[in-house]
Amino acid sequence: MARILVTGGTGYIGSHTTVELMQAGFDVVIVDNLMNSNVGVLDGIEAIVGRRPDYENIDCVDYVALDKLFEKYADIEGIIHFAAYKAVGESVEKPLQYYRNNINSLVNLLELMPIHKVKNIVFSSSCTVYGQPDAAHLPVNENAPIQPALSPYGNTKQICEEIIHDTIHATPNINAIILRYFNPIGAHPTALIGELPNGVPNNLLPYVTQTAAGIRPELRIFGNDYDTPDGTCIRDYIDVVDLAKAHVVALKRMLTNKQEGNEEIFNLGTGRGLSVMEIVETFKRVNNVDVPYKIVERREGDIEKVWADPTRANKVLGWKAERNTEDTLRSCWKWQLRLNEAK
Ligand code: NAD
Ligand code: WQD
Repeated sequence: MARILVTGGTGYIGSHTTVELMQAGFDVVIVDNLMNSNVGVLDGIEAIVGRRPDYENIDCVDYVALDKLFEKYADIEGIIHFAAYKAVGESVEKPLQYYRNNINSLVNLLELMPIHKVKNIVFSSSCTVYGQPDAAHLPVNENAPIQPALSPYGNTKQICEEIIHDTIHATPNINAIILRYFNPIGAHPTALIGELPNGVPNNLLPYVTQTAAGIRPELRIFGNDYDTPDGTCIRDYIDVVDLAKAHVVALKRMLTNKQEGNEEIFNLGTGRGLSVMEIVETFKRVNNVDVPYKIVERREGDIEKVWADPTRANKVLGWKAERNTEDTLRSCWKWQLRLNEAK
């Protein structure tokens, strides 16, 4: 089977995708500089799959090191590029770190692909490129307008999409699939891998699980006066294992020359919008735990409501989000309990 390079493979989505790739028979080499993950994730992957992925501690910003990597693993047939910084607030404070890391990493890979005859790349993009779609574009499909980015992080995703587009135009033997994720949540059902919290979580689910575990005294719900049925914001929460599986499908599509044109874009979401309150209440119910919360001011820059129209991914990729929200929220709690034990 083909060998796949997974950048950012010890991270949250990368680790789950590595598991799915290996279970589908691929060989994987992970490149990660452990800026936002740890090497112990490899043990979790090995425990699930029964095989250990190859791993190289390389910074994707380092062109020479990546060049050597492609020489060492001459059989790489595809790349899934997860490696990036992703904290929206931090990107506002440190824009240049975000531009350097997220953009240079991609440019290095795209430059090295033709040199090492690697044809296929999957890129992690985000629903953040749509900003707040107007009512006519909800649920949001891939043709909805891209809106000015609300943060340097969001801007890096838009710029990276453009870089891919321009590169493919100029280099017709490179194929790319851009995947725009909605809100990934959950953990592997084994609870052997999951999302590793780094400091105070910004994202909703890690904050919910840490509050349920007593690590945080209460969840702050950012605003209940939005124009939504219960007043709290609406998102499309997609299970991380479902998300991971979409990457395997996308890669196989490129490796078997099934693409229509050499650049394709897919939304990855469930098609269902859930409010913050619905998430919190469902989490409490299915896990039989309390999550103390209070309603506070709106968070600056928050989108009121966005959820995916995943029809293109459903029809063209033949992929569909399958895990129900209850099971996903159970996996979040199971993973938090495991993190508590590991302390
Ligand atoms: P993560 O931080 O858990 O994983 C990213 C991994 O990349 C980390 O292990 C980190 O150490 C590594 N990394 C970062 N810069 C690197 C570099 N220069 N060289 C080598 N390794 C590097 O994040 P994630 O949630 O798994 O996100 C993966 C990708 O998906 C990112 O591109 C992110 O922007 C995108 N994305 C994430 C979400 C989300 O909500 N989690 C939503 C949409 C898109
Ligand atoms: C979800 C909802 C909050 C925390 C971010 C990035 C986006 C993408 C996904 C990468 C919102 C509410 C949250 C809390 C709360 N990442 N909330 N209390 O904002 O949709 O998107 O992650 O591409 O680019 O911006 O996700 O998990 O932060 O928030 O009430 O303590 O939960 O207001 O409505 P978001 P989130």
